[in-house]
Amino acid sequence: MSSIAPDSGPPTVVRDATPADLPAMAEIYDDQVRTSLATFDTEPRGAAYLGEKLATTGGGNIVLVAWADGDLLGYAFSGPFRPRPAYDGTKEVSVYLAEGARGRGLGRTLYAALLARLDAAADVHTQVAVIALPNDASVALHLACGFERVGVLREVGHKFGRYVDTAWYQRMPSQN
Ligand SMILES: CC(C)(COP(=O)(O)OP(=O)(O)OC[C@H]1O[C@@H](n2cnc3c(N)ncnc32)[C@H](O)[C@@H]1OP(=O)(O)O)[C@@H](O)C(=O)NCCC(=O)NCCS
Repeated sequence: MSSIAPDSGPPTVVRDATPADLPAMAEIYDDQVRTSLATFDTEPRGAAYLGEKLATTGGGNIVLVAWADGDLLGYAFSGPFRPRPAYDGTKEVSVYLAEGARGRGLGRTLYAALLARLDAAADVHTQVAVIALPNDASVALHLACGFERVGVLREVGHKFGRYVDTAWYQRMPSQN
């Protein structure tokens, strides 16, 4: 567990998620499902979906949460990139913050904690992030955390009545 002091406001605690965090995590995620292109889910998933991620933590599969003053501010996670065994050293990462917690460094704080854990995990080689465009904040966050854009898939998503591109970002060991 670690405690950080943001520029203003109550102290923020970043720690591994537990089952008790799931309802608040689902609130943040399902708000994005309903209102944003940040996820290609189109129907709210509830706590059970995030519980599946918690149930498979260990090694390079990590779920972190950030709390301050009784409020869940956000969470970040790493998990399998694709199910085939040859991909085991590759982790997909993402991060979701409550609306009021954005734009004041918390994304960087959560990712710094997550990436430090991944760098220390013996079986993790590289990380991938998939960003639906446009998402200036997410692009800036990933670039700031050592990811490089490796390509764009055109119109692979369809949400809110339009096709959406995804940008693929990757962080290699040499960028750690
Ligand atoms: C994307 C998200 C996690 C970023 O976290 P954040 O706490 O707002 O970002 P930070 O304050 O840590 O800023 C990280 C970097 O992004 C930049 N940034 C933040 N918001 C930005 C914005 N709206 N436009 C452009 N740049 C932005 C910051 O300047 C900073 O860069 P720097 O360190 O080089 O100055 C957050 O906005 C969020 O949860 N968005 C909704 C969900 C989402 O899109 N998740 C990502 C799915 S791929």
